[in-house]
Amino acid sequence: MKIVSGKTLRAVTLLNVTLRIVALPLVALLVVALLLLLLGGGVANADVSLPNLPRGKGTSCVAPTEMMRKNHMDYLLHQRDLTVRNGVRTERYSLVGCVQCHAQKNDHGNFIAVDAPGQFCQSCHDFASVKLDCFECHATKPDANIERMPARMPAQPTAESVQ
Ligand code: HEC
Ligand code: HEC
Ligand code: HEC
Repeated sequence: MKIVSGKTLRAVTLLNVTLRIVALPLVALLVVALLLLLLGGGVANADVSLPNLPRGKGTSCVAPTEMMRKNHMDYLLHQRDLTVRNGVRTERYSLVGCVQCHAQKNDHGNFIAVDAPGQFCQSCHDFASVKLDCFECHATKPDANIERMPARMPAQPTAESVQ
């Protein structure tokens, strides 16, 4: 058996320790760089594909814009529960109202469904990978497609009555 001299042993240990001291921050740096790259890419992507939302009718939404952006799903589902379970019919967060103000018209002046690609509700939901079943029953346009609404749907509020 060959016995390693104290000098060699010290040299090897030193090399080992040095490697570790150097390698650890290096790996950490690499990980951080990779994360930054990924994050940066994500942000750049988001900028490119973030939907350019058409503005709703009127001066404001049924609640402050920032709150609508974050909480409209809760408002809508709550409104539905109120109406369907308790028969309460305030029209503030009526789905009919959303469509009334947020449906766009095409070049011929005809309404486009809010759940069509690129339209108000859909563009954002596509972006966020949200799928809705609401429009299997509820109308996607203000006046046309009434036949798609359930018989018991409330009368369509005007933009004024929901404000
Ligand atoms: C199977 C058909 C169906 C589906 C799917 C459906 N609804 Fe409804 N919805 C109804 C019916 C019927 C009413 C009752 C209308 C009434 O009694 O006035 C209603 C009422 C509502 C109301 C209260 C009326 C109003 O417009 O203020 C809201 C809000 C509502 N639904 C939201 C939604 C949302 C949001 C979704 C999707 C997550 C959805 N609904 C999916 C059939 C449906
Ligand atoms: C009276 C017309 C009107 C009604 C009804 C209405 N909105 Fe709005 N909505 C607007 C307007 C106008 C804006 C833009 C406000 C702004 O730029 O500050 C807006 C903004 C929004 C935004 C934010 C968009 C963005 O740029 O990020 C969301 C989300 C939204 N509405 C969802 C809804 C939903 C869901 C409903 C139904 C519960 C609804 N709105 C009903 C007029 C309306
Ligand atoms: C600014 C972007 C944006 C706009 C505009 C928008 N939504 Fe949403 N919506 C979202 C996001 C994001 C979610 C998912 C939130 C979550 O998963 O917690 C969502 C979820 C929902 C849900 C709940 C779905 C479920 O099954 O839980 C409903 C209902 C809904 N949106 C209705 C609408 C309607 C109707 C419109 C058009 C009037 C609309 N949204 C416009 C971003 C948007």
